[in-house]
Amino acid sequence: MSKFIETNGRHRTIEGWPLVFTILTVLAVLVGGTVEFLPLVLMEGNIPVISSVTPYTPLELTGRDLYIREGCVNCHSQMIRPFRDELERYGDYSKPGESVYDRPFLWGSKRTGPDLARVGGKYPDLWHVRHMEDPRSTSPNSIMPPYYWLLSRPLNLNSLERKMKGLQRLGTPYTDEEIQGAAADAEAQAQNLARNISANGGPSDLAEKEIIAMVAYLQRLGTDLKKATK
Ligand code: HEC
Repeated sequence: MSKFIETNGRHRTIEGWPLVFTILTVLAVLVGGTVEFLPLVLMEGNIPVISSVTPYTPLELTGRDLYIREGCVNCHSQMIRPFRDELERYGDYSKPGESVYDRPFLWGSKRTGPDLARVGGKYPDLWHVRHMEDPRSTSPNSIMPPYYWLLSRPLNLNSLERKMKGLQRLGTPYTDEEIQGAAADAEAQAQNLARNISANGGPSDLAEKEIIAMVAYLQRLGTDLKKATK
């Protein structure tokens, strides 16, 4: 022990000078931080592009904001890790290029419920309506809370244009025409979804309710890669 201290004498001495030691520590952290941070700003395209990954439609974007509002991320991750058990349960692991249009990202770090990164297309639209209204109606013994108000609260598309403009400024490739036609686009997608839900025996008045946007968003999750293999 005493030998160890002797051979590290210089270190001991520096530690004995608080001011010098503080300055040296700050320098070390600054250099380390710069080395980690610079590539993020200097290198463009440091994320492998996946050409089939496209921005969310206006309705999906609205649903995504509801997902954030309701705090679904507190119980659900959207990040499949490259481990065998996860691949077998959820499907292919998540690629960085899949979440380039997620601002803020919703990878999450808590899994009280299952990962949702590839839930799109796993269930029929109507299943999601029933599950949101009362999780125990589709999944006996589920501990997920109900979100029945999504079925009655009106869908609000007022801030859609401003939201998309903001994303456009940050680099999401929405065209000006897409932004101007956002509300109409969302309404059309909502009508389509609602028609499918009522045709399958679900409620017939959901086209202008929040649930429609939520279902659109959930059904989109993880489906971009499937488009690529089609
Ligand atoms: C308190 C934790 C909790 C919260 C909050 C929560 N969930 Fe869940 N969720 C669960 C659990 C547990 C399950 C598994 C049982 C079930 O299917 O209900 C689940 C299942 C699901 C499933 C089915 C996944 C699959 O692959 O079978 C979806 C979709 C889902 N939740 C969506 C949501 C959405 C959207 C929200 C927010 C509006 C939300 N959840 C909020 C706990 C939660």
